[in-house]
Amino acid sequence: MLPADLKKNLQTKIATVSHPRELVVDVLFDIQMHYGHLTDEAIHEAAELCGMAPVEVEELATFYTFTFREPVGKYVIHVCDSVVCWMNGYQTIREYLCSKLNINMGETTPDGLFTLIPVCCIGYCDRSPAILVNRKVHGSLTPAKLDQLIEKIKMENPAHVE
Ligand code: FES
Repeated sequence: MLPADLKKNLQTKIATVSHPRELVVDVLFDIQMHYGHLTDEAIHEAAELCGMAPVEVEELATFYTFTFREPVGKYVIHVCDSVVCWMNGYQTIREYLCSKLNINMGETTPDGLFTLIPVCCIGYCDRSPAILVNRKVHGSLTPAKLDQLIEKIKMENPAHVE
């Protein structure tokens, strides 16, 4: 159940627009921040707030790249698998990440730190291969750069260091 202050906040935002459904994606992001992902309860709460049917909200929640219907790690790594990245080393990057984190695409590490998700072009083709880590772009990747990136994150999250 949403905390009263978050619910009130969302109701205040929604009251500023003509049609509550205009804000449904913002509402989903705010609710996702609270739960960590969009639970069934979250879908129903967003639907109620926006005056929509839960199925309509479900359609949106499963459509967008940055809305998660299942639990994800603290760091979500979106790996671009579109054409320019394919040409410039996507496979090496994907295989390296999967092997380093010991998970497949679509999975989360057992410590809950990383999730790997494929994504379409993120507009960083001139520095491909590229990934997003919690929506921040990293390009011109090599296994060495990935090592640095992953190790830095692990250092910043000592509770997760193996
Ligand atoms: S194809 Fe990967 S960033 Fe454009």
